[in-house]
Amino acid sequence: MNLPLSPSRRSNIAPFMAMDVLRDAKALERAGRSIIHLELGEPGVAAPLRVREAAIQSLGQGAIGYGEALGEAALRARIARHYGERYDVEVAPDRVIVATGSSGGFLIAFLAAFDPGARIAVAAPGYPAYANILSALGLEPILLDVGEETRFAPTAAMLAAAHREKKLHGALFMSPANPTGAMIGREELARICAFCEEAGIVLVSDEIYHGLEYEMRAETALRFSHRALVINSFSKYYAMTGWRLGWLVAPPELIRPLERLQQSLAICAPTLSQRAALAAFDAGDELEANRAAYARNRAFLLDRLPRLGLDKFAPPDGAFYIYADVSRFTDDSVAFCRRMLHETGVATTPGLDFDPRRGGKTLRISYAGPEADMREGVARLEAWLRV
Ligand SMILES: Cc1ncc(COP(=O)(O)O)c(C=O)c1O
Repeated sequence: MNLPLSPSRRSNIAPFMAMDVLRDAKALERAGRSIIHLELGEPGVAAPLRVREAAIQSLGQGAIGYGEALGEAALRARIARHYGERYDVEVAPDRVIVATGSSGGFLIAFLAAFDPGARIAVAAPGYPAYANILSALGLEPILLDVGEETRFAPTAAMLAAAHREKKLHGALFMSPANPTGAMIGREELARICAFCEEAGIVLVSDEIYHGLEYEMRAETALRFSHRALVINSFSKYYAMTGWRLGWLVAPPELIRPLERLQQSLAICAPTLSQRAALAAFDAGDELEANRAAYARNRAFLLDRLPRLGLDKFAPPDGAFYIYADVSRFTDDSVAFCRRMLHETGVATTPGLDFDPRRGGKTLRISYAGPEADMREGVARLEAWLRV
């Protein structure tokens, strides 16, 4: 008998629509269409030159073998030093774990911190992979709707209200946020950390967009809590998405469980990437030039989008996204983005990817690409939205 395999229930997670949009955009490109990519959540530039040179040098030295599960000692120490330099917060190198992107970091962090069935608060709109990873692991994402009232950021009061309704085991927040760019202010972050400690909630703080701030400086949860699990990555500020390298800073009691999980789930993060990433911390000039380019793109879009009728968006404090209200044009963002892609060649991501309840009326525009693409994208949309 040749019965079809039935996929597991846990694999029945939502698709990551930004990736689906990318697939369609690439197919159109292969067919000869000119596509402006405003859907990509990644820098349009290469990794810093120093990083690439370090990688070449490392390749010249021979084998790229397995490394220690927790990461190369030199990189762990360099990351720890970064906390002193950037935030003036002391972090011991043995609390740092290098992971396969922050994505690999989430996997081991959730497994180490939560038992099956645990309820974890996440903000909506939010990064879609959060709920998808949590669900695949048998954990329950609890969506906290954020909006204008709190500048699109979750608050300690929202967390407390959700916890009163039914006990939470964890909270997974990011600042600056994807897709909104909104940041959690310093005082509010302190309140969130204090509430989590008091209520015995494990706070996972995704700090992947740190370094990409335009209005206020991002603060690390480590300043306010030693129980928080902080996750960061070389993907965004350091422009190293494909190098698949991220890190965690965890409380000492979770280090050995995280190490055991990493040993079996990944063995170790990519060795070549780890050796090259050491140089990323000395590439400040190049990285700041990247940030300045995003800042110019952001200023251009903030000026021009309102003239297209896209005049309502979340506060774009950081990251490289604008999350715009398109309710005057549609309440079906998926169809709207698809039509925009096919008719204008401008790729954006439907809000439904980030907010299953309200995302039909929003879309995300990424300004991580070249300035010329922002101009061309706006010109095409100007013509299209006018008709
Ligand atoms: C908020 C957030 N966290 C994590 C990630 C995953 O990044 P990586 O696995 O490349 O570190 C992304 C990617 O877009 C993101 O937006």
